[in-house]
Amino acid sequence: MKPLIFNPQWLQRQTVMVNGQPLAYAAATGISYVQNPVAPIQRLNVFVPNAYLDGQTVNGYDATSAPIFMPNTVGGYLPGPADAPDKTSWPTNGKAIIAALKHGYVVVAAGLRGRTTVSDGREVGHAPAFIVDMKAAIRYVRHNAQRLPGNVERIVTNGTSAGGATSALVGASGNANGFAPYLTALGAADERDDVFAVSAYCPIHNLQHADMAYEWQFNGVNDWHRYAMSPIAGQRPHFTPIAGELTARQQRASTALKAAFIDYLNGLQLTDATGRPLTLDAAGHGSFERALAELIRQSAQTAASAGTDVHKYAGITTEAAGVTGVDFAAYVRSLTRMKAVPAFDSFDLDSAENNLFGDETVSAKHFTAFAQAHGAVRGPQAAAPLVALIDPVSQLQTDRTTVAKHWRIRHGAADRDTSFAIPFILATSLQQRGLDVDLAFPWDVPHSGDYDLGDLFEWIDARCR
Ligand code: DHB
Repeated sequence: MKPLIFNPQWLQRQTVMVNGQPLAYAAATGISYVQNPVAPIQRLNVFVPNAYLDGQTVNGYDATSAPIFMPNTVGGYLPGPADAPDKTSWPTNGKAIIAALKHGYVVVAAGLRGRTTVSDGREVGHAPAFIVDMKAAIRYVRHNAQRLPGNVERIVTNGTSAGGATSALVGASGNANGFAPYLTALGAADERDDVFAVSAYCPIHNLQHADMAYEWQFNGVNDWHRYAMSPIAGQRPHFTPIAGELTARQQRASTALKAAFIDYLNGLQLTDATGRPLTLDAAGHGSFERALAELIRQSAQTAASAGTDVHKYAGITTEAAGVTGVDFAAYVRSLTRMKAVPAFDSFDLDSAENNLFGDETVSAKHFTAFAQAHGAVRGPQAAAPLVALIDPVSQLQTDRTTVAKHWRIRHGAADRDTSFAIPFILATSLQQRGLDVDLAFPWDVPHSGDYDLGDLFEWIDARCR
């Protein structure tokens, strides 16, 4: 077995042109981060500002103090290959890496298996592969604390959507026992895998309650429209517009799921920052909804102060003093519904998430009792412990994990991919544990990420310097 030792001599200086300007950095790429890889994607890239090789500083950081930024390219729970500043094939977020290097961060970009990863004819990318790989990469970094530039006690993970969920799950499940068998099988370094801080954009998580949350938000909105994604290896997926109307059966399911969400939410016993309970009444209204409306109001107020007309969406009340109110129901109605019912655990087993929970022999499974019971055929259902293993909120509830101390969660105020309740439940659960949480719903921002890197880096610096 190869030892998981990083050789600093692998770092090669290179220069790429960015917007006509040269950007110089050192890179070591294609590094295997486990001893027994099962797929070629399980490799990582390291990028370091040249200054740290020359004993200099960038932005107040040096080779021992620089935060280690760990972005992923996971989207749609598909494979997320290791990224690079000059990567051009889809998926990539090279811009974030370039910005991070300029800012003085060390960047470690790991390739993670996803639901369609096939190697030697075997499907090896179903849950929990994505998070097992991310943890193995973090362990590799820690294992090489003395050989890699950067501070392993200042690891900041970053991702968007399913990648945001990956980032959040890392933060919620540090050193969790449930991953041990998977990490051992891969020959991951025997190290801690907790991290310092999480940056998560529109994390698509809490999948076992996401259908309920979606219907709490959209119940009564019966037409939906979205882009259907067909993955194409190595290329941007193909997107085709599709639309429809909920069937009578789906409308009944919506009402049942909404009721189930009210029970789930009240059972969480969430409280706001001042300790007041966040709850919902039998009709789905209450302090939880008002707290969400207040976050949307703050978002609209920020936009209005910057000169934006916030009446693009309904339900926003403005007076001379600013944005004074948000009618949450009217607002979400004007956002429109993206997904049919159930939004995630499809009755027909044809969602990305159904495929995520497949295994080597069964390509797609249910992950909620509701969809399994109400599906056209009684399809297979993933084991509850596996579903909980990849859910950040469930991981927090175990109280046996090392949770990241700092969290920055962004979910666009125009994002329809999951309910606003989902990021709010995560943020509130973290806040109740006394952690440092910064949640916002940026105005008119759709399902996307890394749109405010300057603010993100300021947030990181405030916690790392
Ligand atoms: C993503 C988006 C979704 O709507 C979803 O259900 C899962 C993943 C994504 O963009 O990663």
